Parts: sequence; structure tokens; C-alpha cells
Amino acid sequence: MTTFLITGGAGYIGAHVVRALLAAGERPVVYDDLSTGVRARVPEGVPLVEGSTLDRVLLDQTIARHEVGAVIHLAAKKQVAESITRPLRYYRENVHGLQILLEAVRGARIETFVFSSSASVYGTPVDDGPVTEDTVCAPISPYGETKLIGEWLVRNAGRAHGISTACLRYFNVAGAAAPELADTSVSNLIPMVFERLDAGLPPLIFGDDYPTPDGTCVRDYIHVEDLAQAHVAAARALSEQPFAGDLTLNIGRGEGVSVREMAEQIGVLTHHEALIPQVGPRRVGDPARVVARTDAAAKHLGWSARRGVRDMITSAWTGWRFIR
Ligand code: WQD
Repeated sequence: MTTFLITGGAGYIGAHVVRALLAAGERPVVYDDLSTGVRARVPEGVPLVEGSTLDRVLLDQTIARHEVGAVIHLAAKKQVAESITRPLRYYRENVHGLQILLEAVRGARIETFVFSSSASVYGTPVDDGPVTEDTVCAPISPYGETKLIGEWLVRNAGRAHGISTACLRYFNVAGAAAPELADTSVSNLIPMVFERLDAGLPPLIFGDDYPTPDGTCVRDYIHVEDLAQAHVAAARALSEQPFAGDLTLNIGRGEGVSVREMAEQIGVLTHHEALIPQVGPRRVGDPARVVARTDAAAKHLGWSARRGVRDMITSAWTGWRFIR
């Protein structure tokens, strides 16, 4: 049994990763500054250390005290729009914080490191086919830049210091394993639509003049439970093949769904069919289509997503009503 340090483990995705590790018989320790994480999301019996990855002394103490053998790094600022207005905070937290964490990992001779990266490293893919891990990375927001720089840090530190690493590029994450674990930040399509429905307003589609089948943007939605399983599979793959070099993997379903399709499905599944989606102006920085090729994750992790959009929407809606 390995003790895993889960930075950001009190967050929406982190809480699901902690539960997946417990179910797999592993021992998580949560390290979270609680700036957006929620203490109540940490299960009974799982140690929670309130701290920042910028605090090297506390990181060293925590790693030593809990005999940490592996790290899954999820702590980061992740709001694309906010990263444009506060780039220095994003670089400090997402890049400098990661650098300090990697120095602590190296100092403790930890050999397994899983990093939360993002499909936003791709920016606006040049063609509208599925993106592979070899697709050119040209992020178009400071957030996406911090994730790409983070991958460089992780891969270089891994190669130089004998750490097996996996960079997992998340696509659009949604859903919840339980109502109390739902995403509380209204910063992505599904909760943003929920908020409008609660106000008696129809979904607002940001542009329908994109070069896609119905003119609205196409994304690859992945259930947070499938995403959490991918972290367990990655940690296992790295520990079973010591110094397996570095893995960089798309974590998506490999299936594109348009904003209009999502908005209509949300309407049906939440019994708001009467609120017909409206179209507004484009949002700056939105690529027309970002959909994953997922062969590499299947090959290297033996993992693929199992849950569909319906489960994402219904579980998110149940969580929304539970929390609101
Ligand atoms: C999805 C689509 C909007 C709200 C996300 C995360 C980012 C990263 C990559 C992890 C876009 C449209 C939205 C609304 C709309 N994930 N939309 N009306 O921008 O694809 O990025 O995945 O690192 O952190 O944010 O996700 O949910 O913001 O938007 O039309 O009310 O829905 O224009 O096309 P995005 P999103």
C-alpha cells in the first residue's frame, strides 16, 4: 500500500481522486490550501494538511510525517478568464508552486508523480480532427501556458532525477459521484446553464457561426469518476514499471458533443424543455472543436472512459440542487 500525497485533494476533481484511491486500497493524504477546496469533501480518516505548494518546509514535513511514496498534483488555479486578468498569480501558483513541489519530491526521493494537465495546452487546433498527444501545443491563455510549462517541468525533472511521471491532459470534466461532491464553481458550461435555468432563463450559446455541424463549439466531455479512475491507473502504471519514463496522455472520451446538443440535453434531463436555448455572441478564445484521440491512455493505462453525457448531466444536476 502506497501513501499518495494528493495536492488539491479537497477540490472537485481531487475529492473524486481521493475516493478512487481509497476504493483501490491505497492511502491518500490530502494537501490543500482550501482557497477553493472544501474541508467537508475530505473523507473521515483521510489526513488533511492545510497548506500551499509554495511552502517547502510544510511540504517536507508532510512528506516525511506520512511517509509519502507518490504524488498526484491537482492543486492549481484553473479559471481561464481569471488567468487573463491575473497572470502573475497563475504563474506563481501553477508554475512556481509546482517547481517547489518537484524540489520536495526530488529531496524525498519519491519516484512517482502524476500531474494534472489540460486540453487547453492545445489552444486552437489547426485542423478539426481529434487531437493526439503529438498535436502541436499552442495555448491561448495564461492558464493553458502554465499547464504546458508545468508539463515541461515535470518531464525534465522526471528524466533528470529518476521520477516516473504522467501528465494527464483533462478535457471537459463534468458530473459527480455523489451530490455533495458536485462542482461548486460556476465556471463551465453545465453549471452556467443550470444557473440560468434556476433564474428562469434559457441556456445562452456563445456563438453558432463556428465551422462545425450545427455551428456551435464541439467539446469532449468526460465524467469526473472516469477521470479519477485514470489517475489510479496512471499511478499504478508508473509504480509497476519503475521509471517508465514519462507518459503524456489525453484523458477524454474521444467523442465530440456540441454546445447546442449539450444545452438541449440539459433542458430535457432537467425538465426545462420550454426554455429554448438562445444564441449570443462568441466568447473570445473559444476554439471551434477540441476532441481527444484516446488510444494512448488505453494502451499505456488500460483505461478508457465508461460513462456518458447523460450521467454527467443528471449527476451534476442532482449535485447542483443538493448544494444550492
Ligand atoms: C465549453 C463550451 C463555450 C457556457 C474547459 C475548462 C478548462 C479546461 C478545458 C481543464 C465553450 C460554451 C459555455 C455558456 C456556452 N479544462 N459555453 N454557454 O472553455 O472548453 O474549457 O476545458 O483544465 O479549464 O474551462 O469549457 O465549459 O467554459 O465551455 O456556449 O453559458 O461551452 O463557449 O464553447 P472550455 P467551458
